[in-house]
Amino acid sequence: MTLKAKQTFRIVVLVSGRGSNLQAIIDAINAGKLKSQIVGVISNVPKVFALERAEKHKIPTLTLSSKGLANKVYFEELAAAVQMWQPNLIVLAGFMKIVNSDFISLFKNRIINIHPSLLPSFPGLHAQKQALDYGAKITGCTVHFVDEGCDTGPIILQRALDVLPDDDEESLSQRLLQVEHLTLTDAISLLENNKVILQGRKTLLRESL
Ligand code: GRF
Repeated sequence: MTLKAKQTFRIVVLVSGRGSNLQAIIDAINAGKLKSQIVGVISNVPKVFALERAEKHKIPTLTLSSKGLANKVYFEELAAAVQMWQPNLIVLAGFMKIVNSDFISLFKNRIINIHPSLLPSFPGLHAQKQALDYGAKITGCTVHFVDEGCDTGPIILQRALDVLPDDDEESLSQRLLQVEHLTLTDAISLLENNKVILQGRKTLLRESL
């Protein structure tokens, strides 16, 4: 009797810039925390550092700029590129475009995003600055499924972080990044182990990590 080979959990990561969250996933895979494989990285911005990080680890990359393309056409092209890699999961890791509804329906409940605030507080851009300007004493990060709204999808994991009295946007963002990296890789671990059950807009975690 032959044993069935266990299928790898395939991840495509979408990026637009620095790629520290992408690096955290790569490091977690290399450290054995994750069993997933990153099968491709796509950037909508040419020559960003995230692409260098992927190339260094021999991960296939693609740059797909949206310049001059209608949003619908761009997301059709992006979907075709993503489908080529047949992912189980698409991770938006600092991908600075709001994905359209056709793309979301095509990959239903298979797209997650990392956001640098405790949603539903401070969605959208500059979440750390929003928290500081508001005078929040605690902020954090959220990993959530992506739906049609802006940072509104069902929450998978959140982690909190104290805002320090002398924090500015830079210092808070830097500290928060460490928390993001841990939370994103924890969420991927839950997903690759099939421990996230989606019930309406809530998620149930089969067991804690
Ligand atoms: C992170 O703060 C993430 O939460 C937000 O964009 C930033 C991306 O950083 N969505 P990096 O490119 O992963 O370093």
